[in-house]
Amino acid sequence: MSEKCSSSNKGVFCAVVRDNRQVGRRFYRLGLEFSGAAAEAFAKFRPGQFIQMDLSGTALPPAERIPQELADAARREILLRRPFSFADVTVKQDRTRAELLYCVVGPATLRMTTLAPGDSVSVIGPLGNGFWTPDGKTTALLVIGGMGAPPLQHLAKVLTAEHPDIDVTAFAGAKTAKELPFEKKLDSISQQLGFSLAEFAKYAVKSMVATDDDSGGFAGPVTDCLMQWFDSQSDLARDSVIIYACGPEAMLARVAEIAKEKGIDCQISMERRMACGIGVCQSCAVGCRVPDSTETVYKLCCEDGPVFDSKEVAF
Ligand SMILES: Cc1cc2nc3c(=O)[nH]c(=O)nc-3n(C[C@H](O)[C@H](O)[C@H](O)COP(=O)(O)OP(=O)(O)OC[C@H]3O[C@@H](n4cnc5c(N)ncnc54)[C@H](O)[C@@H]3O)c2cc1C
Ligand code: FES
Repeated sequence: MSEKCSSSNKGVFCAVVRDNRQVGRRFYRLGLEFSGAAAEAFAKFRPGQFIQMDLSGTALPPAERIPQELADAARREILLRRPFSFADVTVKQDRTRAELLYCVVGPATLRMTTLAPGDSVSVIGPLGNGFWTPDGKTTALLVIGGMGAPPLQHLAKVLTAEHPDIDVTAFAGAKTAKELPFEKKLDSISQQLGFSLAEFAKYAVKSMVATDDDSGGFAGPVTDCLMQWFDSQSDLARDSVIIYACGPEAMLARVAEIAKEKGIDCQISMERRMACGIGVCQSCAVGCRVPDSTETVYKLCCEDGPVFDSKEVAF
């Protein structure tokens, strides 16, 4: 059973693991279920918000299942909670289910692989601001770099449900096709129709793939794929378009540059190491521009973000 351990909407909650499936060499999908007050709090979880998960008491996998390059990291103790966004949230009567897509990169995510159905995990959330949709938008472009996928998958679902008048297209890029955190690509007919990824096609959202090494889709950075798409649009009203992006900082900087060049609104989800996630430790500073000035100020990724207007961030 999930239970709430604090009295505010944002709090420390227990989630029950429903499933934990490997979906790629290093990628897993973790299904969580919340009940009671936790179900109510997480039913309002917006795309781009995040949780801080406690994995300090979770066991490591057996030695033969630890990749050699993570053998040293695996021994590190987990003192701090780790931030994760959700790829999907579903409300079912008095339960809220969330899907977390994660990549195994170090000691905490290694431990996550051993979570089994019925296990309880402590999470703090919902945290951060999440993406928002200004009035008057009719085209949304979702730009994903590698593990930036989860919040934009969630956004694709919410946008198509809450704003059916907005035409949504996703662009997903990685160094190589194996580093794209998706389960399966669609058949050639779907691809010809503009639907490359099942995770977006299920919301009738078109998607394109880009790989740096030409192992799938467009050959080159996802931002070049986005530029090619702009070149193919002759009558796009700039005010009606919004770009949402999540991925490595270099990609976000290029997306922000493109948005500026084209005069298009753009929101980017920034990533920082987060010790507390609630604005106390100051470890997650993001340099931001002060309007009409050359000065910069620091904002907190966990509280002021993680989603920022791209014009605001000083890359
Ligand atoms: C708001 C937010 C949402 C996130 N959502 C997801 C998600 O949905 N799925 C997912 O797989 N991961 C997500 N992450 C990243 C995730 O938190 C880290 O991969 C995780 O903390 C790694 O823990 P670890 O102990 O396994 O590895 P660590 O040893 O802590 O890290 C392994 C490597 O990754 C780098 N790294 C770890 N965390 C960050 C970070 N926050 N910023 C930059 N570099 C980092 C480290 O420098 C190190 O090189 C998110 C991060 C943030 C800030
Ligand atoms: S993570 Fe502690 S202030 Fe942001």
